[in-house]
Amino acid sequence: MMDFSVLPLHKHPEYLQDCCELINSEWKRSHTARMQSLQGSCDQLPVSLILLKGEALVGHLKLCPIPSIKSGCFVQSVVVNRADRGKGFGSVLMQRAEVYCKDKLNLSVIYLSTQGQEEFYRKLGYSECSPISIYGSFSTPPIENGPNSMGRTKGSR
Ligand code: ACO
Repeated sequence: MMDFSVLPLHKHPEYLQDCCELINSEWKRSHTARMQSLQGSCDQLPVSLILLKGEALVGHLKLCPIPSIKSGCFVQSVVVNRADRGKGFGSVLMQRAEVYCKDKLNLSVIYLSTQGQEEFYRKLGYSECSPISIYGSFSTPPIENGPNSMGRTKGSR
């Protein structure tokens, strides 16, 4: 079995640059804006988790707070290196993130929104749910995360 680790990015800032490039290779955004977003990773939420194969960065995801659902989080920016896709890395990353949510953050549900990767998440035990609002401020109208919301509660499989 290959040597994998899933680590919080803020504990390993030496991977910031690689992580920025990995995410930007999928969703183009300014380097500065992306770095700022990644540097917001902390011990609670939000937190960016990285997947390492040996010492090489192969994946990333970000767990974000949901102001109206304290027992849950919203997972974003799930990405695996193009060359490494289809080899099970995305599944390992999601499964380790679920353990992190449960054990380190004491969360019981993970939400996400996807267009096109439904089958990947379904295989991991996620199912469609009603849209949730991922913004809690009353100063702006709540925005729902679209019709493709999926959720999964801990211990459901
Ligand atoms: N459609 C159908 N099945 C899929 C897809 C897909 N798009 N992607 C993966 N699968 C299946 C695989 O075939 C595999 O099935 P199997 O267990 O029967 O063999 C299973 O899902 C697990 O696949 P992995 O190899 O673990 O997935 P991978 O390492 O390729 O990572 C990921 C999946 C993260 C979606 C990757 O393809 C990627 O980075 N895509 C581009 C970025 C992206 O779209 N990310 C998701 C955005 S949504 C969000 O962030 C909440």
